[in-house]
Amino acid sequence: MELLVDSYGRRIKSMRISITDKCNFRCTYCMPAEGLPWLKKDEILSYEEIVRIARVSVAMGIEQIRLTGGEPLVRRDVPDLVHQLGQIEGLRSLSLTTNGILLKHQAKALAEAGLTRINVSLDSLLREKFARLTRRDQLEHVLEGLAELEKYPSIRPIKINAVAMRGYTEEEVLSFARFARDKAYVVRWIEFMPLDADQIWRKEDILSGAEIKQIIESEYGPLQQITSGDPSETARRYTFSDGIGEVGFINPVSEPFCSTCDRIRITADGQLRTCLFGTEETDLRAIVRAHTDDELLIQTIRQAVLNKELKHYIGDKRFRRTNRTMSRIGG
Ligand code: GTP
Ligand code: 5AD
Ligand code: SF4
Repeated sequence: MELLVDSYGRRIKSMRISITDKCNFRCTYCMPAEGLPWLKKDEILSYEEIVRIARVSVAMGIEQIRLTGGEPLVRRDVPDLVHQLGQIEGLRSLSLTTNGILLKHQAKALAEAGLTRINVSLDSLLREKFARLTRRDQLEHVLEGLAELEKYPSIRPIKINAVAMRGYTEEEVLSFARFARDKAYVVRWIEFMPLDADQIWRKEDILSGAEIKQIIESEYGPLQQITSGDPSETARRYTFSDGIGEVGFINPVSEPFCSTCDRIRITADGQLRTCLFGTEETDLRAIVRAHTDDELLIQTIRQAVLNKELKHYIGDKRFRRTNRTMSRIGG
C-alpha cells in the first residue's frame, strides 16, 4: 500500500495512541489538582477499534507504536492490547510511556505480552518534591516499578523522562546524571511545553537542554554525542566520556525538531492529531464505528497526514494553545 507522506515530504512512521485520559497523578505541569472531567466509557476506543486503526496504519508504513495516556496502565488489561498489537505484521517497535506507579504489578505481564521498550516519567528523586509536583506521595512506588522492570531484559532500554523547569530541576541534574550511570537507565530531560491545564507555563520557566548539559559537563567533563541514525528521534543523545551511562535532551522549545517529525497521534476518544500542538483533529472513531470496510478509514488517515502542520509556534506571536492539554493528548 502507498506509504503515509505529508505535504512537506515527511514520511510518517510513528503513531502514539492514548488509551485513556485518566491518570492517578496530578502533575502540576499537566493536570489541575481536581483532575479533569473524564471521558465516558463509550467515548473511548475499544481495544478492537484501536487494533483496527493500528493495523490499517501499519499497512501504510507506521513502524512504531507507543501507548500513552493519561496514565495508560490505569486502563484494564493493557497487556492484552500489547499482545494484540504485537501480532501486527510489519510493526517494528511497541512501547509505552507511563508514570511507573503501577509497574510493580504489571511489568511481568507487559514483558510477557511482548512490550519491548518503555519510558517512565520521573521528575524528582526527592520524596517531598516529587509529592508536591505530582500531588501524590508515591515516589517509592515508581522506584519499585523501575526495579521490577530491571528483571525483564526484553524491555530495553528503560528511559526516564524528567520535565525540566527553571528553579526546580537544576539542583537534581547531577543526581539524575548519577542515576543514569549507576542504573542502566537512559535519563532524558524534556523542556516544559505550554500544554498544562492550569496554564502556568511561561517562557521564562524553560530550562533548556543546553543549560542542563552544561551542569553535567561542569562535573563530568564533555559529553560525547551519540548518533543513532534515526533523524526523527526527539532526543539529542550523549554518553559520558568513559562510556558509562546515557543522557538525552528533548528540546522542543529551544531546538524544535518539527522538520524531521514522523509522528501522528490518536487520542483516547479516537481523534487523529497530526501535531502535538495542532488545532485540527480528524474523527476516526466515527468512521470505525460506521464502516466495517477499511477504505474510508485509509483515505481519511491519508488525507489528514497530507494536512500535517509544518511546525509549532511556541515562543512566537502566532502560537495558539491547543484545545487539549497534555493528558488528553498523551504527550
Ligand atoms: P522515544 O521513541 O523513546 O525516543 O520516545 P519519545 O521521546 O518519542 O516519547 P516520550 O513519550 O518519552 O516523549 C518524551 C517527550 O517528548 C514528551 O514530553 C513528548 O510530549 C515529547 N514529544 C514527543 N513527540 C513530540 C513532538 O512531536 N513534538 C513535541 N513538541 N514534543 C514531542
Ligand atoms: N511539557 C513537557 N512535557 C510534559 N509532559 C507532560 N506534560 C508536559 C509539559 N507540559 C511529559 C510527561 C511524560 C511525557 C509523555 O510528557 O512527563 O514524560
Ligand atoms: Fe498524569 Fe502524565 Fe499528566 Fe502527570 S504528566 S498528570 S503522570 S498524564
